[in-house]
Amino acid sequence: MRILVIGSGGREHALVWKLAQSKLAEKIFCAPGNGGIAQIAECIDIKADDIESILNFVKKEKIDFTVVGPEVPLALGIVDDFRNRKLKIFGPEKKAARMEASKIFCKELMAKYNVPTAAFKIFSEAKEAYDYIDEYGTPCVIKADGLAQGKGVIVAKDAPEAKAAVKSILEEKIFGDAGKRLIIEDCLQGVEASILVFTDGKTVVPLASSQDHKRIFDGDHGPNTGGMGAYSPAPVVTPKLFQEIMEKVINRTISGLAREGISYQGVLYAGIMLTDSGPKTLEFNVRFGDPETQAILPRLKSDLLEVMLAVSEGNLSRIKNLEWETKACVCVVCASGGYPGDYAKGKEISGLQDAAKMKDIVVFHAGTKKEGEKILTSGGRVLGVTGLGQTIKEAITKTYQAVEKIKFEGMQYRKDIGAKAL
Ligand code: AMP
Ligand code: GLY
Repeated sequence: MRILVIGSGGREHALVWKLAQSKLAEKIFCAPGNGGIAQIAECIDIKADDIESILNFVKKEKIDFTVVGPEVPLALGIVDDFRNRKLKIFGPEKKAARMEASKIFCKELMAKYNVPTAAFKIFSEAKEAYDYIDEYGTPCVIKADGLAQGKGVIVAKDAPEAKAAVKSILEEKIFGDAGKRLIIEDCLQGVEASILVFTDGKTVVPLASSQDHKRIFDGDHGPNTGGMGAYSPAPVVTPKLFQEIMEKVINRTISGLAREGISYQGVLYAGIMLTDSGPKTLEFNVRFGDPETQAILPRLKSDLLEVMLAVSEGNLSRIKNLEWETKACVCVVCASGGYPGDYAKGKEISGLQDAAKMKDIVVFHAGTKKEGEKILTSGGRVLGVTGLGQTIKEAITKTYQAVEKIKFEGMQYRKDIGAKAL
């Protein structure tokens, strides 16, 4: 089969890497891809949200199957556009993608179908939100309704911080229309975990559990980022908790969507807070996590392409179970100096081949580009150095040995990825 993967991050490198192992895969393209993906697939210069150009490419190149990485094309309705033209694609349709594209839609659905989540209220007037903050107190969490490149959630510890967040979203409109409305919700305490499942709207096949590290600095300090590292499995998600999350979060959500006339097909990602009063849903994403995918896919023994095809054909019941390596996997993100704020680009990266030669190590690229023989930095999160080990401890040790071989000016990474699992 001729396959197109859409996106340019570490997640997409991991997807391309895993799809390339399928006996069904003949040739893989990636739009737009990155410096690492270019070594295993043909990168084409089309942006992930340029749906018209993607459609033209798919027809011209006779692509058999398209896999969407990021949320923006899904929210724009790329899956509907493909299906209308009888083209095969992996991902949820536009109505289903609202689970991520509108936090209000998502919270209302959870409330209606009794999916455990933080108590919340919706606001479109700043004055009413300020009064609510005064009345109910802090900490609280402010969430812009729409997509805001991962910056739309503010965990506010006091009233001035909460009101400043409301002001920037509703009055200063820093997220534009994505911030026409917002949610204020209770601040939950606990440990976070990511639970991803494949579903065709009827059958659900879970992936292995994982945990992200959102903050830039060790010990979960500093501002939020896209994710500084991940590991899988997450031992805090015991089999009993996993069962509870599947029943109360995943199954209720998918059947709730079905009752609203929405058949969810693709990967559904639940961000979970494990609180003293049980698992609560923080958010849903309608795509694979980044960097969770980099820590999950190296453990997957099953053929990813077969599973994705079954999902897109509405026939996931033909896949009984996924097979997993018992080994643990750790992904450490190497980021540009200054990230998640401003950072420089174009720094030459050295040591990539030395790291890649190590057993059980794979280096997924995110913000990189190939220039001649050189690989240069071109984004905030640059690499996801990923390693397998018999135990999580061994995976951590090996992965950091690989990280130490890699250098670029300004490189920063967390030294405590996976430590919580020990
Ligand atoms: P995202 O929506 O992925 O950018 O991430 C939001 C992050 O904000 C989560 O991973 C949590 O760390 C945090 N968060 C979101 N909602 C809550 C909540 N109700 N209580 C505490 N933390 C939250
Ligand atoms: N790792 C968080 C996300 O993919 O949204």
